[in-house]
Amino acid sequence: MTTDPTVPVIHWTDGDLELSARWRSEAGAAPPRRVVLADDRMTADAAYRQASEGVALLWRGDFQNARQLMQAMARRIDRKKHKSPASPLDAFNAHRQAQAQRARTLGMVLIPLDADYSIPLRRAPDVKQACAEVYGEGDAGGASSVVSLRELQGLVGAHEWRKKGIEIAALGARIHPYYGVFSPVRGEYIELVARAPLPSRSLAFDIGTGTGVLAAVLAKRGVERIVATDADARALACARENVARLDLTEQVQVCEADLFPPGRAPLVVCNPPWLPARPSSPIERAVYDPDSRMLRGFLDGLAAHLEPGGEGWLILSDFAEHLGLRSREALQAMIDAAGLKVIGRDDIRPVHPKAADPSDPLYRARAAEVTSLWRLGAK
Ligand SMILES: C[S@@+](CC[C@H](N)C(=O)[O-])C[C@H]1O[C@@H](n2cnc3c(N)ncnc32)[C@H](O)[C@@H]1O
Repeated sequence: MTTDPTVPVIHWTDGDLELSARWRSEAGAAPPRRVVLADDRMTADAAYRQASEGVALLWRGDFQNARQLMQAMARRIDRKKHKSPASPLDAFNAHRQAQAQRARTLGMVLIPLDADYSIPLRRAPDVKQACAEVYGEGDAGGASSVVSLRELQGLVGAHEWRKKGIEIAALGARIHPYYGVFSPVRGEYIELVARAPLPSRSLAFDIGTGTGVLAAVLAKRGVERIVATDADARALACARENVARLDLTEQVQVCEADLFPPGRAPLVVCNPPWLPARPSSPIERAVYDPDSRMLRGFLDGLAAHLEPGGEGWLILSDFAEHLGLRSREALQAMIDAAGLKVIGRDDIRPVHPKAADPSDPLYRARAAEVTSLWRLGAK
């Protein structure tokens, strides 16, 4: 057991024994305070009831049964009818609230992990590599830990994507996303960057590079040097690995920065998170941008980082506008207040399975969504 007071610990009892272990939650959830032991005898109804009341179930039974139990709990959650919201904004807020509640309830099924990330349960899969990629190499001190099954499944899914990669048509190659790094699964915005007329081929900045995908696209288009920044350690490591895999290390330099690197460039590209809302966990930071902080930071700093005649490419979807989270006028006002003018705009409609699913709670906003590349210049 760890003695580091900053490491969260989960406590439970087994008969007369008071036990504890390191608690792992990449979502930043606190260790559950009420924990009971559970095994194959537990019914889905009982599990659902306990979990809804905030009682965590530390699994001792067969691993595959724990998976099935959680699926049965999910069905119980998803059966619940929700009131029709009055506006798209109400729908968005209700949807996020329901998602958070769902995550809390399903997050109550807990799995023990040994120090080397093996799972000491019957029929358990080997998750060692997936865990090591996210938590770091196993603890030499022999500390065991506890994690929610839901998080563990997220880690395993991320590991598969990282291994397999995502085909990027504009690159004719694959990009391998890391856990917690914005994944370029929706390719339309990449298409916009692949087809916009380049103002120069000498130098570009890619602000908030994530997997490094846009820097790589610019490199493939012949931009001689690209400085790609990010503020997140996982994104930096991920971008570096992708750049190396694509053999672009001569052209693309990945560096840690809060938005811009020093200096000016004739082209500065940025794809900030599209929704001005509070992330509910650290791994949602690439999707939600509270108070449009990154968007504003990019716009406000752009003119000072553009060479004369240079262009800033802002990639942004209008999903937030359809949800009532930000108006077009407010975006125009931000561009204006930053001393920028719009040189041009290229729009694309997302091809998103949910955009064609009327049962999705955000269907109307999704179906109307347009992603744009705004070409901005200093006034
Ligand atoms: C929506 S993702 C876009 C990633 C990538 N450019 C792409 O298009 O797939 C936004 C990225 O910006 C990064 N980011 C957020 N705030 C930042 C800041 N202040 N400085 C640098 N990067 C930041 C996030 O870590 C994330 O990787």
